[in-house]
Amino acid sequence: MSAFKTLMYEKKGGIASVTLNRPEALNAFNVQMRDDLYEVLGAIIDDPDVRVVIFKGAGEKAFCAGADLKEFLGAPPPVAARQVRFRRDPWGLFQKVPQPIIAALHGYVLGSGIEIALCCDIRIASEDVRIGLPEVGLGIIPAAGGTQTLPRIVGRARALEMLLANRWLDGEEAFRFGLVNRVVAKDRLLETAEKVAESIASSDPLAVRSAKQAVVRGMDLPLAEGLDLERRLAAGLGRKTARSHKEGKTNR
Ligand code: COA
Repeated sequence: MSAFKTLMYEKKGGIASVTLNRPEALNAFNVQMRDDLYEVLGAIIDDPDVRVVIFKGAGEKAFCAGADLKEFLGAPPPVAARQVRFRRDPWGLFQKVPQPIIAALHGYVLGSGIEIALCCDIRIASEDVRIGLPEVGLGIIPAAGGTQTLPRIVGRARALEMLLANRWLDGEEAFRFGLVNRVVAKDRLLETAEKVAESIASSDPLAVRSAKQAVVRGMDLPLAEGLDLERRLAAGLGRKTARSHKEGKTNR
């Protein structure tokens, strides 16, 4: 286990776990967490042994209750904040993670909390989940991708109702919206996320990364270009399979 101030990072086999770890503040996202997240995502991207990642929140009450409002009230002016963000932007880094990321969501998942979850590939929620984006009511808008990632997952009208009318979802609604893949009893949340992770980790890592890339990059491309991307990725895997087959024969 490695030491971060606001996160716990563990690796077991090919499965890495990142735990948002400020339970006394419902894991609210502060500047230190942004820096820790930037570090840990960089480490994950560079680590070929990591095949899949699980994001979760420490404590009973929340995955993450959004931006740290106490810190936010004393925030630096926007220009300074933007400069820092340019240098250490975990949200941009999330988009570069080649391994699949699973979010295990419980309790409050608000603001930056749901924006982290929206950067993940598979979301599993426990029955007590409460998901919302209160930013507009606070006179701001989500700035960690939420206005772009949320409508891509739940559609424009549902995203706008959540954003503009501060509609919070429970687990059943989040499932109906397609925001979470499944909802499980709270005591089965981590076990379920780990089972999904194990299943992913048991497949060829290059095939897993290629499939993620085909879907994630392909979704932002016109169909013809998406099909071309798929062809290139499939051909790359075909070459690798042929090579290992040949090497297997010569090694015999
Ligand atoms: N930033 C900083 N601290 C936060 C926080 C946040 N976003 N959310 C919760 N906390 C802190 C509380 O200040 C409290 O700390 P304290 O014990 O030192 O007073 C602790 O976490 C527990 O929160 P509390 O409000 O007592 O829990 P609750 O169960 O009564 O309410 C919420 C839970 C999530 C409804 C409530 O904390 C809340 O509305 N938080 C702010 C959500 C928000 O607007 N986030 C920003 C999105 S941009």
